[in-house]
Amino acid sequence: MGKDSLTIIDNRTGKTYEVPIFHGTYPEYGSAIRTADLRQIKYSENDFGLLGYDPAYLNTASCQSTVTFIDGEKGILRYRGYPIEQLAERGNYLETAYLLLYGELPTAQQSDAWTGAVMEHTVLDENILKLVDGFQEGAHTMGMLVGMLGSLSTFYANARDISDEKAWDVHIHRLIGNVATVGALVYRRSRGLPYVAPDSSQGYCANFLNMLFGLPEQAYTANPVMERALEVLFILHADHEQNCSASTMRGIGSGRADPYSAMAGAAGSLYGPLHGGANEAVLKMLAEIGSKENVPAYIERVKNREVLLQGFGHRVYKNYDPRAQIIKQTAYDVFEVTGKNPLIDIALELERIALEDAFFVSRKLYPNVDFYSGIIYQAMGLPTDMMTVMFAIGRTSGWLAQWREMLQDKEQKITRPRQVYIGSDERDYVPMEER
Ligand code: ACO
Repeated sequence: MGKDSLTIIDNRTGKTYEVPIFHGTYPEYGSAIRTADLRQIKYSENDFGLLGYDPAYLNTASCQSTVTFIDGEKGILRYRGYPIEQLAERGNYLETAYLLLYGELPTAQQSDAWTGAVMEHTVLDENILKLVDGFQEGAHTMGMLVGMLGSLSTFYANARDISDEKAWDVHIHRLIGNVATVGALVYRRSRGLPYVAPDSSQGYCANFLNMLFGLPEQAYTANPVMERALEVLFILHADHEQNCSASTMRGIGSGRADPYSAMAGAAGSLYGPLHGGANEAVLKMLAEIGSKENVPAYIERVKNREVLLQGFGHRVYKNYDPRAQIIKQTAYDVFEVTGKNPLIDIALELERIALEDAFFVSRKLYPNVDFYSGIIYQAMGLPTDMMTVMFAIGRTSGWLAQWREMLQDKEQKITRPRQVYIGSDERDYVPMEER
Protein backbone atom coordinates (compact mmCIF):
# COMPACT_ATOMS: atom_id res chain seq x y z
CA MET A 1 0.00 0.00 0.00
CA GLY A 2 1.19 3.52 -0.82
CA LYS A 3 1.19 6.57 1.41
CA ASP A 4 -1.80 7.24 3.72
CA SER A 5 -2.80 10.51 2.12
CA LEU A 6 -4.98 12.03 -0.55
CA THR A 7 -3.68 14.42 -3.20
CA ILE A 8 -6.26 16.94 -4.32
CA ILE A 9 -5.86 19.23 -7.33
CA ASP A 10 -8.10 22.31 -7.29
CA ASN A 11 -8.83 22.85 -10.98
CA ARG A 12 -9.97 26.43 -10.25
CA THR A 13 -6.50 27.43 -9.15
CA GLY A 14 -4.28 24.57 -10.30
CA LYS A 15 -3.02 24.20 -6.71
CA THR A 16 -2.29 20.78 -5.23
CA TYR A 17 -3.02 19.79 -1.63
CA GLU A 18 -2.08 16.72 0.36
CA VAL A 19 -4.55 15.59 3.01
CA PRO A 20 -3.72 12.79 5.50
CA ILE A 21 -5.90 9.67 5.67
CA PHE A 22 -6.35 7.98 9.05
CA HIS A 23 -7.84 4.59 9.92
CA GLY A 24 -10.02 3.01 12.55
CA THR A 25 -9.53 -0.57 13.80
CA TYR A 26 -10.43 -1.90 10.34
CA PRO A 27 -8.82 0.12 7.51
CA GLU A 28 -11.29 -1.34 5.01
CA TYR A 29 -14.19 -0.08 7.12
CA GLY A 30 -13.41 3.29 8.58
CA SER A 31 -10.72 5.22 6.72
CA ALA A 32 -11.30 8.93 6.72
CA ILE A 33 -9.93 12.35 6.00
CA ARG A 34 -10.67 15.27 8.27
CA THR A 35 -13.05 17.50 6.36
CA ALA A 36 -11.53 20.44 8.28
CA ASP A 37 -8.41 19.77 6.16
CA LEU A 38 -10.44 20.85 3.13
CA ARG A 39 -10.71 24.37 4.53
CA GLN A 40 -7.21 25.20 3.26
CA ILE A 41 -8.54 24.77 -0.30
CA LYS A 42 -9.50 28.32 -1.28
CA TYR A 43 -10.40 29.96 -4.56
CA SER A 44 -9.31 33.38 -3.34
CA GLU A 45 -7.94 34.88 -0.16
CA ASN A 46 -11.44 35.87 1.02
CA ASP A 47 -12.86 32.42 0.30
CA PHE A 48 -13.98 30.65 3.51
CA GLY A 49 -12.53 27.37 2.20
CA LEU A 50 -14.03 24.16 0.87
CA LEU A 51 -16.77 22.45 2.92
CA GLY A 52 -17.85 18.82 2.83
CA TYR A 53 -21.54 18.66 1.78
CA ASP A 54 -23.35 15.60 3.09
CA PRO A 55 -27.13 15.86 3.64
CA ALA A 56 -28.34 13.30 6.21
CA TYR A 57 -24.70 12.41 6.94
CA LEU A 58 -24.64 9.55 4.43
CA ASN A 59 -20.85 9.51 4.38
CA THR A 60 -19.73 11.52 7.38
CA ALA A 61 -18.10 10.13 10.54
CA SER A 62 -19.05 12.45 13.41
CA CYS A 63 -16.72 10.86 15.96
CA GLN A 64 -14.19 8.13 16.65
CA SER A 65 -15.88 5.55 18.84
CA THR A 66 -14.97 2.39 20.73
CA VAL A 67 -18.51 1.39 21.69
CA THR A 68 -20.19 -0.46 18.80
CA PHE A 69 -18.98 -1.85 15.50
CA ILE A 70 -21.28 -2.56 12.55
CA ASP A 71 -20.25 -3.99 9.20
CA GLY A 72 -23.44 -3.51 7.22
CA GLU A 73 -22.27 -5.48 4.20
CA LYS A 74 -21.43 -8.57 6.26
CA GLY A 75 -24.27 -8.19 8.77
CA ILE A 76 -21.94 -7.87 11.78
CA LEU A 77 -22.82 -6.12 15.04
CA ARG A 78 -20.45 -6.08 18.02
CA TYR A 79 -20.59 -4.22 21.34
CA ARG A 80 -17.04 -3.42 22.52
CA GLY A 81 -15.84 -6.26 20.29
CA TYR A 82 -18.30 -8.90 21.55
CA PRO A 83 -20.56 -10.37 18.81
CA ILE A 84 -24.23 -9.58 19.40
CA GLU A 85 -25.07 -13.29 18.98
CA GLN A 86 -22.91 -14.23 22.00
CA LEU A 87 -24.23 -11.44 24.18
CA ALA A 88 -27.84 -12.32 23.31
CA GLU A 89 -27.29 -16.01 23.98
CA ARG A 90 -25.17 -15.82 27.14
CA GLY A 91 -25.42 -12.33 28.59
CA ASN A 92 -28.04 -10.30 30.38
CA TYR A 93 -29.17 -6.73 29.78
CA LEU A 94 -27.56 -5.03 32.78
CA GLU A 95 -24.12 -6.55 32.18
CA THR A 96 -24.44 -5.54 28.52
CA ALA A 97 -25.30 -2.00 29.64
CA TYR A 98 -22.19 -1.99 31.86
CA LEU A 99 -20.10 -3.28 28.95
CA LEU A 100 -21.36 -0.54 26.64
CA LEU A 101 -20.78 2.16 29.23
CA TYR A 102 -17.48 1.13 30.76
CA GLY A 103 -15.84 -0.97 28.03
CA GLU A 104 -15.53 -4.36 29.79
CA LEU A 105 -17.89 -7.02 31.07
CA PRO A 106 -18.25 -6.56 34.84
CA THR A 107 -16.62 -8.90 37.35
CA ALA A 108 -18.99 -10.52 39.87
CA GLN A 109 -18.23 -7.76 42.38
CA GLN A 110 -18.69 -4.97 39.82
CA SER A 111 -21.88 -6.59 38.61
CA ASP A 112 -23.37 -6.70 42.13
CA ALA A 113 -22.51 -3.06 42.82
CA TRP A 114 -23.78 -1.95 39.40
CA THR A 115 -27.03 -3.91 39.60
CA GLY A 116 -27.65 -2.63 43.12
CA ALA A 117 -27.07 0.99 42.09
CA VAL A 118 -29.40 0.73 39.07
CA MET A 119 -32.15 -1.16 40.90
CA GLU A 120 -32.05 1.31 43.79
CA HIS A 121 -33.00 3.98 41.25
CA THR A 122 -36.09 2.18 40.02
CA VAL A 123 -37.83 3.79 43.00
CA LEU A 124 -39.21 7.21 42.04
CA ASP A 125 -40.10 10.38 43.90
CA GLU A 126 -43.85 10.53 44.70
CA ASN A 127 -44.14 13.78 42.74
CA ILE A 128 -43.08 11.98 39.57
CA LEU A 129 -46.14 9.73 39.97
CA LYS A 130 -48.33 12.83 40.27
CA LEU A 131 -46.89 14.16 37.05
CA VAL A 132 -47.79 10.93 35.23
CA ASP A 133 -51.32 11.29 36.63
CA GLY A 134 -51.54 14.59 34.78
CA PHE A 135 -51.56 12.85 31.39
CA GLN A 136 -54.88 11.87 29.88
CA GLU A 137 -55.90 8.25 29.89
CA GLY A 138 -55.35 6.89 26.37
CA ALA A 139 -52.47 9.31 25.68
CA HIS A 140 -49.70 7.85 23.52
CA THR A 141 -47.17 6.24 25.83
CA MET A 142 -44.16 7.41 23.82
CA GLY A 143 -45.30 11.04 23.99
CA MET A 144 -45.64 10.61 27.75
CA LEU A 145 -42.18 9.02 28.02
CA VAL A 146 -40.53 11.89 26.13
CA GLY A 147 -42.19 14.43 28.44
CA MET A 148 -41.36 12.47 31.59
CA LEU A 149 -37.68 12.05 30.69
CA GLY A 150 -37.27 15.80 30.20
CA SER A 151 -39.03 16.53 33.49
CA LEU A 152 -36.74 14.17 35.44
CA SER A 153 -34.00 16.80 35.49
CA THR A 154 -36.20 18.98 37.71
CA PHE A 155 -36.46 16.30 40.39
CA TYR A 156 -32.74 15.99 41.10
CA ALA A 157 -30.89 18.93 42.62
CA ASN A 158 -27.60 17.89 40.96
CA ALA A 159 -29.15 16.96 37.58
CA ARG A 160 -27.17 19.60 35.72
CA ASP A 161 -23.85 18.67 37.31
CA ILE A 162 -21.74 17.02 34.61
CA SER A 163 -18.45 18.13 36.11
CA ASP A 164 -16.78 14.71 36.33
CA GLU A 165 -17.17 10.99 35.84
CA LYS A 166 -18.51 10.47 39.39
CA ALA A 167 -21.38 12.84 38.61
CA TRP A 168 -22.02 11.06 35.30
CA ASP A 169 -22.29 7.71 37.09
CA VAL A 170 -25.07 8.97 39.33
CA HIS A 171 -27.06 10.14 36.28
CA ILE A 172 -26.40 6.84 34.51
CA HIS A 173 -27.67 4.74 37.46
CA ARG A 174 -30.72 6.98 37.74
CA LEU A 175 -31.63 7.03 34.08
CA ILE A 176 -31.33 3.27 33.56
CA GLY A 177 -33.30 2.64 36.79
CA ASN A 178 -35.85 5.43 36.26
CA VAL A 179 -36.60 4.67 32.60
CA ALA A 180 -37.95 1.20 33.39
CA THR A 181 -40.28 2.52 36.08
CA VAL A 182 -41.41 5.48 33.98
CA GLY A 183 -41.93 3.12 31.00
CA ALA A 184 -44.21 0.93 33.11
CA LEU A 185 -45.98 3.96 34.62
CA VAL A 186 -46.89 5.48 31.25
CA TYR A 187 -48.30 2.12 30.13
CA ARG A 188 -50.41 1.76 33.28
CA ARG A 189 -51.54 5.40 33.04
CA SER A 190 -52.55 5.10 29.38
CA ARG A 191 -54.73 2.09 30.27
CA GLY A 192 -56.09 3.64 33.47
CA LEU A 193 -54.52 0.90 35.60
CA PRO A 194 -53.15 1.42 39.13
CA TYR A 195 -49.37 1.69 39.40
CA VAL A 196 -47.28 -1.21 40.67
CA ALA A 197 -44.31 -0.21 42.83
CA PRO A 198 -40.85 -1.42 41.78
CA ASP A 199 -39.29 -4.31 43.65
CA SER A 200 -35.56 -3.63 43.63
CA SER A 201 -34.80 -7.11 44.99
CA GLN A 202 -35.77 -8.57 41.59
CA GLY A 203 -33.72 -8.57 38.40
CA TYR A 204 -34.11 -5.61 36.02
CA CYS A 205 -36.37 -7.41 33.54
CA ALA A 206 -38.35 -9.42 36.13
CA ASN A 207 -39.08 -6.20 38.04
CA PHE A 208 -40.11 -4.45 34.84
CA LEU A 209 -42.55 -7.25 33.93
CA ASN A 210 -43.91 -7.02 37.46
CA MET A 211 -44.50 -3.27 37.10
CA LEU A 212 -46.19 -3.82 33.72
CA PHE A 213 -48.39 -6.80 34.44
CA GLY A 214 -48.47 -7.30 38.22
CA LEU A 215 -51.10 -6.11 40.65
CA PRO A 216 -50.46 -3.63 43.46
CA GLU A 217 -50.03 -5.32 46.83
CA GLN A 218 -49.83 -8.78 45.27
CA ALA A 219 -46.70 -10.86 44.65
CA TYR A 220 -46.03 -11.44 40.95
CA THR A 221 -43.56 -13.88 39.48
CA ALA A 222 -42.43 -13.20 35.95
CA ASN A 223 -42.47 -16.19 33.61
CA PRO A 224 -38.76 -17.07 33.07
CA VAL A 225 -39.24 -17.40 29.29
CA MET A 226 -40.74 -13.90 29.09
CA GLU A 227 -38.02 -12.54 31.36
CA ARG A 228 -35.31 -14.09 29.18
CA ALA A 229 -37.00 -12.79 26.00
CA LEU A 230 -36.99 -9.29 27.46
CA GLU A 231 -33.29 -9.59 28.36
CA VAL A 232 -32.57 -10.59 24.74
CA LEU A 233 -34.70 -7.81 23.24
CA PHE A 234 -33.10 -5.16 25.47
CA ILE A 235 -29.62 -6.47 24.58
CA LEU A 236 -30.42 -6.34 20.85
CA HIS A 237 -31.75 -2.79 21.14
CA ALA A 238 -29.06 -1.52 23.51
CA ASP A 239 -26.84 0.33 21.03
CA HIS A 240 -26.39 0.85 17.34
CA GLU A 241 -23.55 3.37 17.01
CA GLN A 242 -24.29 6.78 15.44
CA ASN A 243 -27.97 6.28 14.58
CA CYS A 244 -30.50 9.11 14.52
CA SER A 245 -31.32 9.08 18.25
CA ALA A 246 -27.73 8.47 19.44
CA SER A 247 -26.63 11.41 17.30
CA THR A 248 -29.39 13.49 18.92
CA MET A 249 -28.18 12.44 22.38
CA ARG A 250 -24.62 13.42 21.52
CA GLY A 251 -25.77 16.64 19.84
CA ILE A 252 -27.85 17.84 22.80
CA GLY A 253 -25.18 16.69 25.24
CA SER A 254 -22.53 18.57 23.28
CA GLY A 255 -24.20 21.82 24.34
CA ARG A 256 -23.68 20.53 27.92
CA ALA A 257 -27.41 20.11 28.59
CA ASP A 258 -28.12 17.66 31.42
CA PRO A 259 -28.43 13.99 30.35
CA TYR A 260 -32.17 13.85 31.23
CA SER A 261 -32.94 16.58 28.69
CA ALA A 262 -30.57 14.98 26.19
CA MET A 263 -32.33 11.65 26.63
CA ALA A 264 -35.74 13.25 26.16
CA GLY A 265 -34.42 14.54 22.83
CA ALA A 266 -33.01 11.14 21.90
CA ALA A 267 -36.35 9.49 22.74
CA GLY A 268 -38.15 12.10 20.63
CA SER A 269 -35.89 11.20 17.75
CA LEU A 270 -36.55 7.48 18.26
CA TYR A 271 -40.32 8.11 18.16
CA GLY A 272 -40.25 8.71 14.38
CA PRO A 273 -41.58 5.89 12.16
CA LEU A 274 -38.40 5.82 10.07
CA HIS A 275 -36.45 5.06 13.25
CA GLY A 276 -37.68 3.33 16.44
CA GLY A 277 -41.32 4.08 15.67
CA ALA A 278 -41.07 1.50 12.88
CA ASN A 279 -42.02 -1.35 15.25
CA GLU A 280 -45.38 0.32 15.87
CA ALA A 281 -45.75 0.98 12.13
CA VAL A 282 -45.00 -2.70 11.38
CA LEU A 283 -47.85 -3.87 13.60
CA LYS A 284 -50.25 -1.42 12.00
CA MET A 285 -49.13 -2.60 8.55
CA LEU A 286 -49.54 -6.30 9.44
CA ALA A 287 -53.01 -5.63 10.87
CA GLU A 288 -53.94 -3.73 7.71
CA ILE A 289 -52.76 -6.60 5.49
CA GLY A 290 -54.88 -8.91 7.61
CA SER A 291 -53.99 -12.29 6.09
CA LYS A 292 -51.31 -14.10 4.10
CA GLU A 293 -53.44 -14.02 0.93
CA ASN A 294 -53.28 -10.21 0.88
CA VAL A 295 -49.49 -10.09 0.98
CA PRO A 296 -48.81 -10.08 -2.81
CA ALA A 297 -51.21 -7.15 -3.28
CA TYR A 298 -49.44 -5.22 -0.51
CA ILE A 299 -46.05 -5.92 -2.08
CA GLU A 300 -47.38 -4.46 -5.33
CA ARG A 301 -48.43 -1.30 -3.48
CA VAL A 302 -44.90 -1.03 -2.05
CA LYS A 303 -43.39 -1.42 -5.51
CA ASN A 304 -45.80 1.23 -6.85
CA ARG A 305 -44.44 3.52 -4.11
CA GLU A 306 -47.85 3.90 -2.47
CA VAL A 307 -46.56 2.60 0.89
CA LEU A 308 -43.31 1.59 2.56
CA LEU A 309 -42.67 -1.97 3.61
CA GLN A 310 -42.34 -1.13 7.29
CA GLY A 311 -39.51 -2.85 9.17
CA PHE A 312 -37.56 -3.31 5.94
CA GLY A 313 -34.40 -1.52 4.87
CA HIS A 314 -31.61 0.05 6.84
CA ARG A 315 -29.12 2.84 6.31
CA VAL A 316 -26.23 0.60 7.34
CA TYR A 317 -27.25 -3.06 6.88
CA LYS A 318 -27.23 -4.02 3.22
CA ASN A 319 -27.11 -7.78 3.62
CA TYR A 320 -29.09 -8.72 6.70
CA ASP A 321 -29.68 -7.29 10.16
CA PRO A 322 -28.20 -9.85 12.60
CA ARG A 323 -30.65 -8.66 15.27
CA ALA A 324 -33.60 -9.68 13.08
CA GLN A 325 -32.22 -13.25 12.86
CA ILE A 326 -31.94 -13.57 16.66
CA ILE A 327 -35.31 -11.97 17.30
CA LYS A 328 -37.09 -14.51 15.09
CA GLN A 329 -35.99 -17.32 17.42
CA THR A 330 -37.03 -15.30 20.48
CA ALA A 331 -40.49 -14.92 18.94
CA TYR A 332 -40.98 -18.69 18.85
CA ASP A 333 -39.75 -19.04 22.45
CA VAL A 334 -42.34 -16.50 23.58
CA PHE A 335 -45.11 -18.13 21.52
CA GLU A 336 -44.48 -21.36 23.45
CA VAL A 337 -45.83 -19.51 26.49
CA THR A 338 -48.29 -17.03 25.02
CA GLY A 339 -49.58 -18.92 21.99
CA LYS A 340 -48.67 -17.84 18.47
CA ASN A 341 -49.26 -14.26 17.42
CA PRO A 342 -51.03 -14.78 14.06
CA LEU A 343 -49.27 -11.71 12.65
CA ILE A 344 -46.06 -13.77 12.45
CA ASP A 345 -47.46 -15.74 9.50
CA ILE A 346 -48.13 -12.53 7.57
CA ALA A 347 -44.65 -11.24 8.46
CA LEU A 348 -42.96 -14.46 7.30
CA GLU A 349 -44.89 -14.39 4.03
CA LEU A 350 -43.95 -10.73 3.46
CA GLU A 351 -40.31 -11.58 4.11
CA ARG A 352 -40.41 -14.64 1.83
CA ILE A 353 -41.92 -12.78 -1.12
CA ALA A 354 -39.85 -9.63 -0.64
CA LEU A 355 -36.56 -11.51 -0.47
CA GLU A 356 -37.27 -13.11 -3.85
CA ASP A 357 -38.44 -9.92 -5.55
CA ALA A 358 -36.06 -7.88 -7.72
CA PHE A 359 -37.36 -4.57 -6.28
CA PHE A 360 -36.13 -5.49 -2.79
CA VAL A 361 -33.12 -7.56 -3.85
CA SER A 362 -31.68 -4.82 -6.09
CA ARG A 363 -32.07 -2.23 -3.32
CA LYS A 364 -30.63 -4.58 -0.69
CA LEU A 365 -33.74 -4.29 1.47
CA TYR A 366 -33.90 -6.86 4.29
CA PRO A 367 -35.97 -7.12 7.48
CA ASN A 368 -34.53 -4.95 10.24
CA VAL A 369 -34.82 -5.46 14.01
CA ASP A 370 -38.23 -3.80 14.09
CA PHE A 371 -39.81 -6.24 11.67
CA TYR A 372 -40.25 -8.83 14.44
CA SER A 373 -39.84 -7.01 17.79
CA GLY A 374 -43.41 -5.64 17.84
CA ILE A 375 -44.90 -9.08 17.17
CA ILE A 376 -43.15 -10.40 20.29
CA TYR A 377 -44.13 -7.50 22.51
CA GLN A 378 -47.72 -7.79 21.32
CA ALA A 379 -47.71 -11.52 22.14
CA MET A 380 -46.48 -10.60 25.63
CA GLY A 381 -49.62 -8.49 26.04
CA LEU A 382 -48.39 -4.99 25.25
CA PRO A 383 -50.41 -2.59 23.10
CA THR A 384 -49.09 -1.17 19.82
CA ASP A 385 -48.28 2.25 21.25
CA MET A 386 -45.87 0.69 23.79
CA MET A 387 -43.54 -0.73 21.11
CA THR A 388 -41.24 2.26 20.88
CA VAL A 389 -41.22 2.73 24.66
CA MET A 390 -39.82 -0.81 24.94
CA PHE A 391 -37.15 0.08 22.39
CA ALA A 392 -36.28 3.26 24.33
CA ILE A 393 -35.82 1.38 27.61
CA GLY A 394 -33.29 -0.98 26.01
CA ARG A 395 -31.58 1.84 24.09
CA THR A 396 -31.05 3.96 27.24
CA SER A 397 -27.71 2.26 27.98
CA GLY A 398 -26.47 2.93 24.44
CA TRP A 399 -27.53 6.57 24.50
CA LEU A 400 -25.71 7.02 27.80
CA ALA A 401 -22.60 5.20 26.54
CA GLN A 402 -22.52 7.51 23.50
CA TRP A 403 -23.08 10.57 25.71
CA ARG A 404 -20.31 9.50 28.13
CA GLU A 405 -17.87 8.85 25.30
CA MET A 406 -18.68 12.23 23.76
CA LEU A 407 -17.92 14.01 27.06
CA GLN A 408 -14.60 12.14 27.38
CA ASP A 409 -13.54 12.92 23.83
CA LYS A 410 -11.19 15.91 23.85
CA GLU A 411 -11.77 16.48 20.14
CA GLN A 412 -15.53 17.00 20.53
CA LYS A 413 -17.02 20.47 20.78
CA ILE A 414 -20.55 21.78 20.58
CA THR A 415 -22.20 20.16 17.53
CA ARG A 416 -22.68 22.76 14.87
CA PRO A 417 -22.79 21.75 11.20
CA ARG A 418 -22.20 24.28 8.42
CA GLN A 419 -24.50 24.90 5.47
CA VAL A 420 -24.21 25.90 1.84
CA TYR A 421 -26.45 28.96 1.57
CA ILE A 422 -28.56 28.95 -1.62
CA GLY A 423 -31.08 31.71 -0.70
CA SER A 424 -31.51 35.30 -1.92
CA ASP A 425 -28.69 37.79 -2.04
CA GLU A 426 -29.11 40.94 0.13
CA ARG A 427 -32.28 42.90 -0.72
CA ASP A 428 -34.19 45.82 0.81
CA TYR A 429 -37.25 45.53 3.04
CA VAL A 430 -40.50 45.89 1.03
CA PRO A 431 -43.31 47.87 2.74
CA MET A 432 -46.62 45.99 3.03
CA GLU A 433 -48.45 48.15 0.45
CA GLU A 434 -45.79 47.42 -2.17
CA ARG A 435 -45.75 43.61 -1.85
N1 ACO B 1 -40.01 -0.07 1.59
C1 ACO B 1 -39.93 0.22 0.27
N2 ACO B 1 -38.87 0.81 -0.32
C2 ACO B 1 -37.84 1.13 0.48
C3 ACO B 1 -37.84 0.87 1.87
C4 ACO B 1 -38.98 0.23 2.42
N3 ACO B 1 -39.04 -0.05 3.73
N4 ACO B 1 -36.68 1.29 2.41
C5 ACO B 1 -35.98 1.81 1.40
N5 ACO B 1 -36.67 1.71 0.24
C6 ACO B 1 -36.20 2.08 -1.11
C7 ACO B 1 -36.19 3.60 -1.27
O1 ACO B 1 -37.42 4.06 -1.82
C8 ACO B 1 -35.03 3.79 -2.22
O2 ACO B 1 -35.46 3.42 -3.52
P1 ACO B 1 -34.92 4.28 -4.81
O3 ACO B 1 -33.43 4.27 -4.71
O4 ACO B 1 -35.47 3.56 -5.98
O5 ACO B 1 -35.51 5.65 -4.62
C9 ACO B 1 -34.03 2.73 -1.79
O6 ACO B 1 -34.84 1.68 -1.19
C10 ACO B 1 -32.99 3.20 -0.79
O7 ACO B 1 -33.68 3.71 0.34
P2 ACO B 1 -33.28 5.02 1.13
O8 ACO B 1 -34.54 5.66 1.62
O9 ACO B 1 -32.33 5.84 0.31
O10 ACO B 1 -32.46 4.43 2.34
P3 ACO B 1 -32.10 5.19 3.67
O11 ACO B 1 -30.82 4.63 4.13
O12 ACO B 1 -32.15 6.67 3.51
O13 ACO B 1 -33.31 4.81 4.65
C11 ACO B 1 -34.66 3.61 6.17
C12 ACO B 1 -33.26 3.77 5.55
C13 ACO B 1 -35.14 4.95 6.72
C14 ACO B 1 -34.56 2.62 7.31
C15 ACO B 1 -35.63 3.08 5.09
O14 ACO B 1 -35.19 1.83 4.61
C16 ACO B 1 -37.07 2.98 5.58
O15 ACO B 1 -37.81 3.96 5.51
N6 ACO B 1 -37.51 1.77 6.10
C17 ACO B 1 -38.83 1.61 6.64
C18 ACO B 1 -38.89 2.13 8.08
C19 ACO B 1 -38.09 1.28 9.03
O16 ACO B 1 -38.22 0.07 9.08
N7 ACO B 1 -37.27 1.94 9.88
C20 ACO B 1 -36.51 1.29 10.93
C21 ACO B 1 -35.08 1.24 10.62
S1 ACO B 1 -34.20 0.38 11.91
C22 ACO B 1 -34.15 1.49 13.19
O17 ACO B 1 -34.07 2.66 13.05
C23 ACO B 1 -34.22 0.95 14.50
